[in-house]
Amino acid sequence: MPLLEGKTALIIGIANERSYAWHIAKSLLEHGCRCAFTHLPGEKNERRTRRAVDALGLSDAWMCPLDAGKDEEIDATFSRFSEKFDSLHVLVHSIAFADRDWLAKDKFVETPRAAYLGAIDISAYTLLGIARRAAPIMQRSGGGSIMAMSYYGAEKVVPGYNVMGVAKAALECTARYLAAELGQKSIRVNTISGGYLRTLASSAVGGVDDIETHNLERSPLRRNVEGADVGKTAVYLASDLSSGVTGENIYVDCGVSTIGV
Ligand SMILES: NC(=O)c1ccc[n+]([C@@H]2O[C@H](COP(=O)([O-])OP(=O)(O)OC[C@H]3O[C@@H](n4cnc5c(N)ncnc54)[C@H](O)[C@@H]3O)[C@@H](O)[C@H]2O)c1
Repeated sequence: MPLLEGKTALIIGIANERSYAWHIAKSLLEHGCRCAFTHLPGEKNERRTRRAVDALGLSDAWMCPLDAGKDEEIDATFSRFSEKFDSLHVLVHSIAFADRDWLAKDKFVETPRAAYLGAIDISAYTLLGIARRAAPIMQRSGGGSIMAMSYYGAEKVVPGYNVMGVAKAALECTARYLAAELGQKSIRVNTISGGYLRTLASSAVGGVDDIETHNLERSPLRRNVEGADVGKTAVYLASDLSSGVTGENIYVDCGVSTIGV
């Protein structure tokens, strides 16, 4: 029997076929999971996400507009989701935003208050806001698994990652506090610290070419991570194989985070 047969997932964060969320959805689908999706509001965004979802072999997938920066849109997404689906077992949070003006080397100290708070709002608070709405449905479904995408810049300084690093530290910590409270409802919450992957979001970070070269030369596996590497870990976290795992941050980075110098 497929690992995820009978499970339903809500995937938040597919912009296109390069998105981490796309690779996660592909792996979940391969293991028998039913997937529903959100996209950023606006026709162009909807078309772009729809194209990527079609490429997963789903022609009539459920999709809902969501700007996670707006509470009323999170509410609307979950009320529309509940009208369509009677269960939710897996929630994928794969979204982040920071003003690219401040994602350049030696620019962190210049970060304005609004840019700092905005990055934390969209990249970290949204996990809490979304988990709160997902929890009752997951509890009715017999429990669930929530996972969010993080990056090593949460722990160590990655030049150019700047305020996103601060936001990722908040995200990882938010996941641990959520894990502590939602565990009583049989809901697990974990983060995946993914390696560098060329996507729309990562192209905003200054100095990404250096990161790719460093990974090729210095990572234990001597390569950059592929979306499928993260997808397979997402299947593990979504499935019963990780039944005792919560509040964890799992590195899927070809070992980059294990190297000191
Ligand atoms: N690409 C990498 O190197 C890398 C490494 C580690 C972690 N991550 C993380 O993976 C996640 C996905 O990023 P990606 O690299 O796949 O890039 P991506 O650009 O494909 O995905 C980012 C997503 O965030 C969504 N988003 C932004 N603001 C939003 C909002 N207000 N409401 C709802 N959605 C919003 C975008 O629509 C997009 O779908 C992010 O959390 C990112 O920080 C990326």
